[in-house]
Amino acid sequence: MLRVALPTGRMMKQAIPFLEAAGYAPAESLNETRKLTVPSQCGRVEYLLVKPVDAPLYIEQGVADAGISGKDVLMEVGADLLEPLDLGFSKCRMVVAGKPEIERKLDNLLSPVRVASKFPRVAQHYFRKQGVPCTVFKLSGSVEIGAVLGLSHYIVDIVETGTTLRENGLVVHEEIADCSARLAVNRAAWYAKLSEVRDLLVNLKTAVEGART
Ligand code: PRP
Repeated sequence: MLRVALPTGRMMKQAIPFLEAAGYAPAESLNETRKLTVPSQCGRVEYLLVKPVDAPLYIEQGVADAGISGKDVLMEVGADLLEPLDLGFSKCRMVVAGKPEIERKLDNLLSPVRVASKFPRVAQHYFRKQGVPCTVFKLSGSVEIGAVLGLSHYIVDIVETGTTLRENGLVVHEEIADCSARLAVNRAAWYAKLSEVRDLLVNLKTAVEGART
C-alpha cells in the first residue's frame, strides 16, 4: 500500500481536486484523521496528514513513500528526495524584499546585510552565492514585520498576490525562485514500490495537465 504525505491547510485544499481527478481521494474524509486509508483506482492508498513544513522529513525518512510539498519548503529543508513532478498549483515566488529606499544592488551593500526569514537556509545560501556577508534571523511567521520594525534590511519570503508586501510598504528587490507544489518521492520507495509510485505519478500528471487545458 502506498503511503502518501499530505500537508494540511491551504495546500491540502488545493491538492484535493487534483487527487480526486487522478482517482485517489475522497475529499470529505480527509480532514478527519491523521491517517486515512482510501481505495483508489490503483489499489489502496494511505494518506498521512502532516504539517506542511514537515512533509519532506516524513518522506525522506520513509514514513511516507511519497507526498506533496511546496518547492519553498523543499528548498529550505534540503531533504534527500526525488522530485519528479511539478504539480503546478500553489504557485508563488521566493523573493528578497525590503523597504523601497534600500535600492542598492545586493553586491554593493555594505556588509553585513541583515535578513529575516522563515527560510534561513535559502536566505543564507542566496546571499552567500552573491558574495554578500549576511546575518540571517529566523522568524516563525509575519516576516514582513522584521523589515518594517528595523530588525533586518531585507526579508526572504514567499509572495503570492503581493498584498502582504504592499500592506507593509515593502517591495520586491530580487527574485530567488518560482515555487509551486511538487510530488516528492522517497528514494527507496521509488524502487520498492515502483508500480504504485508510477501509477500515482502518471495519474497526477494527467490530472494536472487536464486542469491546464
Ligand atoms: C505567506 C508569506 C507572506 C504571505 C504572502 O504567509 O509568508 O506573508 O503569505 O502572500 P501574498 O503575497 O498573497 O500576500 P502565510 O500566509 O503563510 O502566513 P505567515 O506569515 O504567518 O507564515
